[in-house]
Amino acid sequence: MKLEQSFMDFMLHHQERHNRSYNFLVLLEAIQTAAKYIQYFYQTGSLKNMMGEAGAVNCQDENVMKMDDIADAIVLHYLRRSNQVIYAVTEEEPEPIRLNEDGGRYFIYYDPLDGSSNIKHNLPVGFMFAVAKRNLEGPEDGRLRSGAELRAAGIFLIPNGVFTLALADTGVFRFHLDETMTYVRPENSERLMLPEDPREWELSFNASNRTNFSADVRSWIEEHEAKYAFRYMGALAGDFHRLLSNGGMFMYPAIVNHPRPDRNRPKGKLRLLYEANVAAFIAREAGGAAIDEAGNDILDIKPESPHHRTALYVGSRPLVESMRKRLRENK
Ligand code: AHG
Ligand code: MN
Ligand code: MN
Repeated sequence: MKLEQSFMDFMLHHQERHNRSYNFLVLLEAIQTAAKYIQYFYQTGSLKNMMGEAGAVNCQDENVMKMDDIADAIVLHYLRRSNQVIYAVTEEEPEPIRLNEDGGRYFIYYDPLDGSSNIKHNLPVGFMFAVAKRNLEGPEDGRLRSGAELRAAGIFLIPNGVFTLALADTGVFRFHLDETMTYVRPENSERLMLPEDPREWELSFNASNRTNFSADVRSWIEEHEAKYAFRYMGALAGDFHRLLSNGGMFMYPAIVNHPRPDRNRPKGKLRLLYEANVAAFIAREAGGAAIDEAGNDILDIKPESPHHRTALYVGSRPLVESMRKRLRENK
């Protein structure tokens, strides 16, 4: 009989080995509990008429799906109960939410359900989160943390039941939901590293936007696309998940040449705090890199607002560096 190591057991040993507090464990316990509830509601949602639109528009002018609301309520509930969070930023609320004035040790930035267009098809979505620590030495000013300050970031792929966690200066680890709804780490599983063999690499972007990218990005794509397989499922969580196994680059470039100028997105579409930084931080811990449209490291961007948007190029370092060079060439 083969029994696997549970996620909490893995974390407990990690914290002990590094002489760290148990507060982080309590926070991660809340996060994984939330993920399991989202998983449960997602799996049964079609039967309960929960996969449609909520009939509202969120602070970012996007149609909210019932499942977005359900997932957000679940996450907030467990974060609040954990007593570990000072401020939470969620995709679904305009302002950071102050959760625990005295006890909160962490900032958490999250997208409760990434890839909303997949919901009505029951296709993969993600719960993505990033964690930073409050200032424990002096007064805490509550400022939004940059990616370089993160201590952890993770993606739960739902309903596939795979959880990828990156820990600062430690690496990337993967856990699978077993028959007892426990996240376990399979025996012999290694730290996750982006593969170095370019023959496996993939490119991932929404090709219907391609004529609207800058001339530099278009020329880069034309020069490189034939070498790599092209994959896109429309959820960063899922697309990035593929890349972590196969290598390559996911990109959501700035939209600068749209025939209807009001549809341009010079700052990109994805949100820095709970989308781009999550992927960028995991990529860094797996040996990769991530940049914005100016060729700057995503993790170094100072967030200007909770829903700060950015263009994103993330994945295997050689591809990201080659794109960085192109983006900077004509500047
Ligand atoms: P969300 O569902 O949380 O709003 O995020 C959707 C994001 C991201 O997951 C995905 O990579 C991207 O939007 C897809 O955008 P397009 O439909 O424009 O390709
Ligand atoms: Mn998202
Ligand atoms: Mn979302």
